Amino acid sequence: MVERRRFEYRRTLVADVPSGGAFAAPSAFACSALAAVLLDAYRGTIDDEGETLEDAVEFVDDALDRALDGVSFVAESAGAPIAFCIVTLVHDVHYIDPIVVAPTWKQQRIGTALVGTSLAELARSGVGEVGAVITEGNVASESLFASLGFELVGPWPPAPAAV
Ligand SMILES: CC(C)(COP(=O)(O)OP(=O)(O)OC[C@H]1O[C@@H](n2cnc3c(N)ncnc32)[C@H](O)[C@@H]1OP(=O)(O)O)[C@@H](O)C(=O)NCCC(=O)NCCS
Repeated sequence: MVERRRFEYRRTLVADVPSGGAFAAPSAFACSALAAVLLDAYRGTIDDEGETLEDAVEFVDDALDRALDGVSFVAESAGAPIAFCIVTLVHDVHYIDPIVVAPTWKQQRIGTALVGTSLAELARSGVGEVGAVITEGNVASESLFASLGFELVGPWPPAPAAV
């Protein structure tokens, strides 16, 4: 098994983050349809561990349970999901987890628009900081989050605090 290192990134939010556009709520889509987007988005990337559609459904089902309403969004085309951004709360910190874009829609700024809209809504609701966890070498994700102002904090998971 390939050893992957993951790193945490954070971005401070100000009150007037510009929104990326109007998107749908995850609850408007079937879990299996979102899982198919997730599986396709990760296929062939550094994070691909040969997961099956069943694995993806399990992951998305859990993500949807943890998704925060009003800040998690889906982009669609002809009524079908093509990308989504879910925001969850972990130890009182809001994280973008996951952001995925289906292969044929990548590099068209849809990821930027979705995450941007989540950041705008988080800022509007008074959230001051947002995190993301990225596998080392996931260049697309590193670029996306860097262009949105996220900065490297350190390894993930964080080392336990010294006593
Ligand atoms: C990461 C991901 C969501 C990016 O979505 P996207 O819609 O293609 O990204 P965008 O078109 O908005 O591009 C955002 C920035 O990243 C850059 N970028 C996107 N894909 C890139 C790639 N493959 N290589 C280098 N840079 C890339 C763009 O040039 C752009 O940079 P800029 O703002 O400086 O011009 C998409 O590649 C994906 O779904 N990957 C698989 C799932 C994943 O890894 N999710 C992140 C987990 S933390």
